[in-house]
Amino acid sequence: MKWWTEARFGLFIHWGLYSLPARHEWVRSREKLSDEAYKRYFDHFDPDLYDPAEWARAAKNAGMKYFVVTAKHHDGFCLWDSKHTDYKASKTPAGRDLIRPLVEAMRAEGLRVGFYYSLLDWHHPDYTIDRFHPMRDDEEFVKRAKGRDFGRYAAYLSSQVRELLTAFGPVDVLFLDYSFPGPDGKGRNEWQSEKLIKMIRELQPGILVNDRLDLLDVPGGWDFRTPEQFMPREWIQAEGRRVPWEACQTFSGSWGYYRDESTWKSVRQLIVMLIETVSKGGNLILNVGPTGRGAFDKRASERLQGIGRWMRYNGRSIYGCSQAPGEFPVPRDCLLTWNAAAKRLYVHVLEWPSGVLRLEGFGGPVAYAQLLHDASEVAVVEKGGALGFFAGQRAEEPGSTLTLRLPVKKPEVEVPVIELFLN
Ligand code: GLC
Repeated sequence: MKWWTEARFGLFIHWGLYSLPARHEWVRSREKLSDEAYKRYFDHFDPDLYDPAEWARAAKNAGMKYFVVTAKHHDGFCLWDSKHTDYKASKTPAGRDLIRPLVEAMRAEGLRVGFYYSLLDWHHPDYTIDRFHPMRDDEEFVKRAKGRDFGRYAAYLSSQVRELLTAFGPVDVLFLDYSFPGPDGKGRNEWQSEKLIKMIRELQPGILVNDRLDLLDVPGGWDFRTPEQFMPREWIQAEGRRVPWEACQTFSGSWGYYRDESTWKSVRQLIVMLIETVSKGGNLILNVGPTGRGAFDKRASERLQGIGRWMRYNGRSIYGCSQAPGEFPVPRDCLLTWNAAAKRLYVHVLEWPSGVLRLEGFGGPVAYAQLLHDASEVAVVEKGGALGFFAGQRAEEPGSTLTLRLPVKKPEVEVPVIELFLN
């Protein structure tokens, strides 16, 4: 877990046939598209601009330390050259394995490797019809599908996971998606989750697995929790203990490339999201949905660059950091992170105050303060020291408050960070 909690920031990539309709990766299920109707995307999948080295550079420059790519999504389409199916990129006009060069390019930039693999599969002939299946309302189809042998699908799933974990060298993260147990659903019994997780850990003992196998109550059934598109109130707990967690978030709502979506978050919102996640002890994996031509679209690239500009000078408040100890109350309009090894506190100032920043309760152990992005000293007004005069009286700061004298003008940084060195 150590590399992962230190890394704090990763790239999610949702890429597949759904990038062509460009209206959500669930398009097949939402619009109840038949195999025949969806086939046009298979026939036209031709990512001529695909440059994995460029993706890897973009991720690295944004400050990301690992990536997770959809090897297969719910539509069943595989980006790698699986020997267990023909429903894969190498059989489309793309004509090649798209995963291997990405793994190599990311490794070359020093990023850790993760695969997303969908437990759902709307293409496989033995995948039984459930409430999400695209053909759920087609009575004829449902009738014909009665004889499907789900056990055969479970075997296919297992062989594909085995393939992903044996054909690409060390895999650092596996993101299996997802379980919806109960009537008309699928969970641990269907996926044969316990067998699966055992195999995964045998094949890749160092791997980290997410929490969507429906094994939350099974020891070793998961390594980290995965809140999706929402910010938890506080550090996620299980049985009263804080657990590793990773928020997965999108730029605009959908995971796959969605041309007409206009709900893109700003660079600032994304930076604050990252800081807030770390301030609650979590990781953030931010998603890009590349286009059918294999490129990041302009909106995604601009955001990654904007985050990167901030990370370059402020990453120290993210990497290796976590929630600050409780004795440091979070000041108003600020977010705190903490590097326990370095004994440094990071105050992210969301609203720039005029002149002074009062950190109530910080009065004790601060030895030095500076702005993180340029290492310029921030004057500390001694506890109990005078700030100025008020009606002829010295205006003194109470002993438990640390008062910082800030430049009047907000530094030209999306979110300025003050680095406090503790004794
Ligand atoms: C989901 C969705 C999906 C997306 C994902 C990411 O549950 O079905 O389309 O891949 O989670 O976390």
